[in-house]
Amino acid sequence: MDQNAPKIVVPPPGPEALKWVQRDSKLMAPYNRPYYYPVVIAGGEGSVVEDVDGNKYIDWNSGLGVLSVGQSNPRIVKAITEKAKKFLHYSYTDFRYREAVLLGERLNKIMPMQCKYFFASGGTEANEAALKIAKHSSKNQLFIGFIDSFHGRTFGTMSFSSTSPVQRQGFHPLMPGVVLVPYPYCYRCPYKLKYPDCDLWCVDFIDEWVLKKFVPPEEVSGFFFEPIAGEAGYIVPPPEFFPKLQKLARKYGILLIDDEVQVGCGRTGKFLALEHLNIVPDIVTLGKGIGGGLPLSVAAVQSDIMDLPAGAHCTTTGGNPVSCAASLAFLDILYEEKLIERAEELGNYTLKILSEMKEKYEIIGDVRGKGLAICIELVKDRETKEPIDTRDFCEKMYKKGVLMVTGGEGVRIFPPLNIPKDLMDTGIGILESTIAEVNRTYFGSGR
Ligand SMILES: Cc1ncc(COP(=O)(O)O)c(C=O)c1O
Repeated sequence: MDQNAPKIVVPPPGPEALKWVQRDSKLMAPYNRPYYYPVVIAGGEGSVVEDVDGNKYIDWNSGLGVLSVGQSNPRIVKAITEKAKKFLHYSYTDFRYREAVLLGERLNKIMPMQCKYFFASGGTEANEAALKIAKHSSKNQLFIGFIDSFHGRTFGTMSFSSTSPVQRQGFHPLMPGVVLVPYPYCYRCPYKLKYPDCDLWCVDFIDEWVLKKFVPPEEVSGFFFEPIAGEAGYIVPPPEFFPKLQKLARKYGILLIDDEVQVGCGRTGKFLALEHLNIVPDIVTLGKGIGGGLPLSVAAVQSDIMDLPAGAHCTTTGGNPVSCAASLAFLDILYEEKLIERAEELGNYTLKILSEMKEKYEIIGDVRGKGLAICIELVKDRETKEPIDTRDFCEKMYKKGVLMVTGGEGVRIFPPLNIPKDLMDTGIGILESTIAEVNRTYFGSGR
């Protein structure tokens, strides 16, 4: 397939797509789709997605963060095929197999700490395991999470997920013992303060107003957080935030539970996003990219913390041997092709261009990110920061051949880490033309 997509052969949504959207709507819950454009994926190759009408698009969301080395990467397909011929399934939590052990050993060479592992299928499952392990080990029942985080949609994790009320509406009561405090979202500071003059009040608030007023710190099991808030639009906390939070955690003996499901596995230019700050968490969860395209997630727990007795936590299909083989192939590609370094390089390149665009187009309110986890906030007014209709923006991009999704108040760019440079440039060109178009709508021919 031509990696120089996009190529729109039938103006999307084409007739095949519309037919499948109709069939789909009779069978599936609406999920997130009414908010987006009606693309129906037929497959693709690398960083190019093909739809059922034969249109080709640039993949700027990696199939929601999973395809870090592209669609159907040949080395991953080979690993999957070879494994599947001989070994499809046998539960690793009730029996044993080499593939899970090999993956754990491999991860222990990569992770900044020595861990014991629980493998599952989706991010939310790894997070549920992390919460159970933290409770069991600390013998404490309370957690502190962050408003504007996303950790999943099962009962434990949705008690922390808080990027939109729809995630909870109609589902209360949720897991007790969860206290949420504001995430350090400097562009829209919840305390209406300005960094760095704020002196990181967001951490002091936890100490002075939460732990000293109503949450006994000795009953808190862990801080549960995203190192960069993904669904909320790649909100990168100021560099002092996590070191200060770590200090607070140490003061009270609270665990650090780091959800790297979206930004881990090299996307930000380090294997773990928290490594940028030299912070070693007690528990890390991985998902999305770690399976190379197959369902796999990981709860990596510092060896001395993992104290679950036999039978306390298991899975039947999690950590499937084929997924483990795909994951090992993914890790080989990540390191042999130096994709973590590439994520940083291409990310810096893209962020620089976007920052220059910000000087040119008044509609750009904020450009931020780390590596290939990038978000742009488009606003009607830089003072009020009222966002434009980001779903409409993504639809415009789709019609021109780029698949993007929203994130919080912005739109996100998180392509495969091995996206060819010319394809990235083509996407950036399409992005600029769309920004210019929307800018004209709001600001006429002015800036
Ligand atoms: C940070 C984070 N944690 C957990 C999840 C949940 O993962 P899954 O949808 O695989 O359950 C997501 C999904 O977007 C995520 O971004």
